[in-house]
Amino acid sequence: MGHTIQLADNLDVLRAMPDGAVDLIYIDPPFNTGKMQQRTQLRSVQAESGKHVGFQGKRYQNKALSTRRFNDRFDDYLAFLEPRLIEAQRVLAADGSLYFHVDFREVHYCKVLLDEIFGRASFINEIIWAYDYGGRSRDRWPAKHDNILLYAKNPLDYVFDFEAIERIPYMAPGLVSPEKAARGKVPTDTWWHTIVPTNGAEKTGYPTQKPLGILRRIVQASSRPGGRVLDFFAGSGTTGQAALELGRSFMLVDSNPAALKVMARRFAGVDDLRWVGFNPPAARTRKPRAAKPRVRA
Ligand SMILES: C[S@@+](CC[C@H](N)C(=O)[O-])C[C@H]1O[C@@H](n2cnc3c(N)ncnc32)[C@H](O)[C@@H]1O
Repeated sequence: MGHTIQLADNLDVLRAMPDGAVDLIYIDPPFNTGKMQQRTQLRSVQAESGKHVGFQGKRYQNKALSTRRFNDRFDDYLAFLEPRLIEAQRVLAADGSLYFHVDFREVHYCKVLLDEIFGRASFINEIIWAYDYGGRSRDRWPAKHDNILLYAKNPLDYVFDFEAIERIPYMAPGLVSPEKAARGKVPTDTWWHTIVPTNGAEKTGYPTQKPLGILRRIVQASSRPGGRVLDFFAGSGTTGQAALELGRSFMLVDSNPAALKVMARRFAGVDDLRWVGFNPPAARTRKPRAAKPRVRA
């Protein structure tokens, strides 16, 4: 079927897709959409050290109206997501699934929205991706996890290939038989996985890149070989990389040209790949050096 990478607003792309066109969707939407930032409400208050000078030379500074802003931010975010999630549900195959990746601040709002769109019965799992890096807050439990919600289009009939899932070592192998210990166990809904190592080969330089190991596990369990995988907040293209390695075709969409540039490097040389709305830079060739003029003594 071939792969596609497209530079576009994902809502336009989704609206143009036929029903049931893809087998698996993974998305990791950004919380900071431009729209939300525009709606941050500010109030000018007088302050000696204020940046803005007003009437009679008085100085002012802007203060955010925090409580209203909090509500607005979530309203805006959900208003941005809702039409895209409605389309996502429509373009999924009858036995397809959606993985929706967020963090602990947004997950509860998104769960309610997804329940409305897919139906509560279609909620299959909340996966906790736990990692351990960076600073630790001292005024609360340090937050070191993301949340991935799994919805099936039809909760009674969806692809979940238990046998294909890569097994992991038991935490206490001494407590199970040697055969079981050698085979390992299937992961639960809590996934311990490192972030993308800062200097590892996997690193693309895209700031919000997610680890390939997480995406491999998702693609392995929730699609069949040869299936079609969609990520319409593609970023550096991690979903496409996992799909490619596992013999699925991928469709990636992002509205940021910088993401497309990163994907152009990541997927350079991949066969059967079509670019839409973006021309990937041609493979770099060395410019021949201009010959030095010969100086005669
Ligand atoms: C958190 S990043 C995704 C990172 C990705 N999972 C990875 O592993 O690299 C979210 C992406 O959504 C893109 N995006 C935001 N709004 C979009 C829209 N309306 N249409 C398409 N892409 C959008 C951003 O440009 C950004 O690259």
